Amino acid sequence: MRQRKVKNLEEKYAGFEDILVYKPEEVRGNWAERSGHSKGIYLEVGCGKGRFISQLAEREPDNFFIAVEGNRSVMLRALEKVRELGLSNVVFVPNFIVDLHDWFEDGEIDGIYLNFSDPLPKNCSAKKRLTYRGKLRQYFDVLNESGVVRFKTDNTNLFNYSINEVIASDLRITKFTRDLHASPYNDDNIMTEYEGKFSGKGFNIKMMEISRIRKKGETMGLAALNGRVIPAQDKVFGISGRAKDAIKAKGHENVANATIGALLDDDGRLIVLSSVDEAVKNLKPVQYAEYAPIAGIPGFKEAATKAALGDFKTDRHIGVVATPGGTGALRNTIANYSCPGDKILTHDWCWPNYQNIAAEQGRGFETFEMFDEAGKFNFADLEYKINKLLRIQDRLVLILNTPANNPTGYSLSVYEWQQVVAILNRVPDDRIVALLVDIAYIDFAGDEKEVRAFLPELEELRSNVLPILAYSASKTFTFYGFRCAAMLCLADDEETADEFVRVCSYSSRSSWSNSPRGPQEVIAEIYSDAELLAKVDEERKGFREMLLSRGRAFEDAAGKVGLKIVPFRAGFFVSIPCEDPDAVCKRLEENDVYCVPMDKGVRVSIASISETKCGKVPAIIKQALDSFK
Ligand SMILES: C[S@@+](CC[C@H](N)C(=O)[O-])C[C@H]1O[C@@H](n2cnc3c(N)ncnc32)[C@H](O)[C@@H]1O
Repeated sequence: MRQRKVKNLEEKYAGFEDILVYKPEEVRGNWAERSGHSKGIYLEVGCGKGRFISQLAEREPDNFFIAVEGNRSVMLRALEKVRELGLSNVVFVPNFIVDLHDWFEDGEIDGIYLNFSDPLPKNCSAKKRLTYRGKLRQYFDVLNESGVVRFKTDNTNLFNYSINEVIASDLRITKFTRDLHASPYNDDNIMTEYEGKFSGKGFNIKMMEISRIRKKGETMGLAALNGRVIPAQDKVFGISGRAKDAIKAKGHENVANATIGALLDDDGRLIVLSSVDEAVKNLKPVQYAEYAPIAGIPGFKEAATKAALGDFKTDRHIGVVATPGGTGALRNTIANYSCPGDKILTHDWCWPNYQNIAAEQGRGFETFEMFDEAGKFNFADLEYKINKLLRIQDRLVLILNTPANNPTGYSLSVYEWQQVVAILNRVPDDRIVALLVDIAYIDFAGDEKEVRAFLPELEELRSNVLPILAYSASKTFTFYGFRCAAMLCLADDEETADEFVRVCSYSSRSSWSNSPRGPQEVIAEIYSDAELLAKVDEERKGFREMLLSRGRAFEDAAGKVGLKIVPFRAGFFVSIPCEDPDAVCKRLEENDVYCVPMDKGVRVSIASISETKCGKVPAIIKQALDSFK
């Protein structure tokens, strides 16, 4: 803060002795007493001329505030303001803070404000920035268990730097906006002097609130957790292990292992398309041994486009990049169409790994309610959440998993797609949305043409919304272990499609380099041989019918026993909403039914149990649910 040195400063300071703390180290451990045992003790580092701290102290008379400022000439104005307002719940430390431990004991502070901290742009000054990881560690040492840091700035570089520092400190961002004044967080915002000046010049004000992830003092081995919450054991892995043990002990016919996300025959064996198997066996060593180009071999890209789009011919510009499974497509989309700190949006009934893929890259996660109270797709909540997020961030990755959604089996109709497109077309021009449609289950969702009937709707999207398809070969070609998929964009112009290929190839190169070549060669081969393609399609059709029959059997049986299921159309899974999914799944295990607990209910894999079992399991689930009433 540029400020001419004030003359006779010491003399002027003499009038404020009662609200000045020259030796904070002597108050260390006794701030509660010094505050007169007020409700909470809050610290502002770098209070400048004190507009913020004086207004906050006036608004919150039960709390006590410690304002630190190293520039004494600047701070004089803050002292005067507090005096003018007659406040007795603020004290000032006229010094630069170096190590908070010197002035505060662990857990002594309830909250810390960093307002428009000096950006110190030179690389060599990074460690001096007030959001440097070493400083963040100090803040969370002196903060109590639930204490938070609130940071505001106009400086984009400092803000982005700070996001990374938060992640590196194993903390999390609980509130976030790149445009504070347009966001809901503005309601209780108090402007600082700098904020007034820079927002007046047209700069967007950014804000984040930083909190702990783990309890104070809780550590974990040598690994850097970087803001992720990594459980000791994967839940599903444990359940499917117990299901396998039960099958060994009691026999396959007496156990329903509905945990597996792959298509199994009625005897529990993995279904592999024999026509695909034959094509795999015909691979020449060079076809699987050689590296593939980063974005995929040309024959695969062409085949994947045909496979994903079917008969649909688009006027749009298609960009294609091969990825190792649909997970790779999700990862690349998040990496290139969102920024660190942004939240990714998807439906509340979703594959839990979406959240992990986001967290792995320092992104947050938000869901909209997929169904309203009448069991219809919840457009209102979708639009509300899109708007909410685009008020606090400039761009958004929206993931919709349809048709045959995992875990519900729901498919959006063409009419529903039209509503989604209309919602996205209402997004302001200066906001960017990547709409990732995860079509992993499309080839088991119903008639090939019908399930692709939504694709032309994507052409109606405006140019600031980029539709991306994540097309996985895992289910379609029974290629789960081969890790083969493609991400395709349908861009409004050629530059956007070229950029998509360029940035996603870069991400692939820097994550897994190239994707496996063998499965790409097989799919290219299938699509270059009409007879073979017809054979594969025919064979898959048979299994699709089998799966659809299982779904119908489950639905019928659920209807008969009055078991409420989440709206289901087709696919690998059916879900049952319930209060305590973990407890329900445990109860089901007692009856030799193994399912996966999700956030909002129980997921049953009808892909991994026979039609007969699909007819029996609903009654067992109903009984388990009733036992908790
Ligand atoms: C850019 S000004 C912002 C002032 C005020 N917060 C505002 O928003 O109007 C940053 C202030 O932080 C102060 N400052 C920077 N590092 C500090 C530290 N370690 N301890 C105390 N004050 C600090 C500077 O002296 C400067 O007055």
